Amino acid sequence: MTETTPTTDPIRLLTSLRAIREYDGRPIPDPVLADILRVARWSGSARNDQPWDFIVVRDRETIARLAGVDGSAGFAAGAPLVIVIALAGGLKLRESYDEGRVSERMMLAAHAHGIGANTGWFSPTGGAAVKEMLAIPEGKWVRSMVAFGYPATTGRPGKPDVRKPLAEIAHEGRFGEPFGTE
Ligand SMILES: Cc1cc2nc3c(=O)[nH]c(=O)nc-3n(C[C@H](O)[C@H](O)[C@H](O)COP(=O)(O)O)c2cc1C
Repeated sequence: MTETTPTTDPIRLLTSLRAIREYDGRPIPDPVLADILRVARWSGSARNDQPWDFIVVRDRETIARLAGVDGSAGFAAGAPLVIVIALAGGLKLRESYDEGRVSERMMLAAHAHGIGANTGWFSPTGGAAVKEMLAIPEGKWVRSMVAFGYPATTGRPGKPDVRKPLAEIAHEGRFGEPFGTE
């Protein structure tokens, strides 16, 4: 079982965030959704462009259709809430960075409430299908969504240690010098 437990320790909140892909079907309470969107709104972006619109989808049938478009978001079929991110369609490199930041922050806001989430990417054709499905204007760019839900108790067990050791990825002063705190 993969758990997401409310925590008031900010560092623990960050290190315990996991991609939750299986949900128990309970709806997300409105105050939690309000927090998720409030956090999204306050996310930083390049030049403070805020190049995003958030399409909140709670209709289960539409969510199932979103999960079915071409891409890697099939896991979201049973989610009670999906937020599709529509980007302005300007500089894609910059907007990609902003998209990642805001996605992660929405996941963290949910996690703070004990709710799981994961990002799901659409292929270019999948993104085009989503635009049509949700009446997103022509010039905008859709590449991903975030699905939310209370973690299913019957989910696959989480991997206990799924990150590279710090010694492998942190360097001191120059590349290749082992990082040390002493
Ligand atoms: C940029 C990015 C794109 C991702 N796209 C998908 C996706 O399309 N579908 C999916 O199921 N998970 C997606 N993930 C989730 C990753 O697979 C997950 O964060 C990674 O395997 C680590 O899992 P953990 O956080 O549960 O340890 C994506 C994550 C990131 C950061």
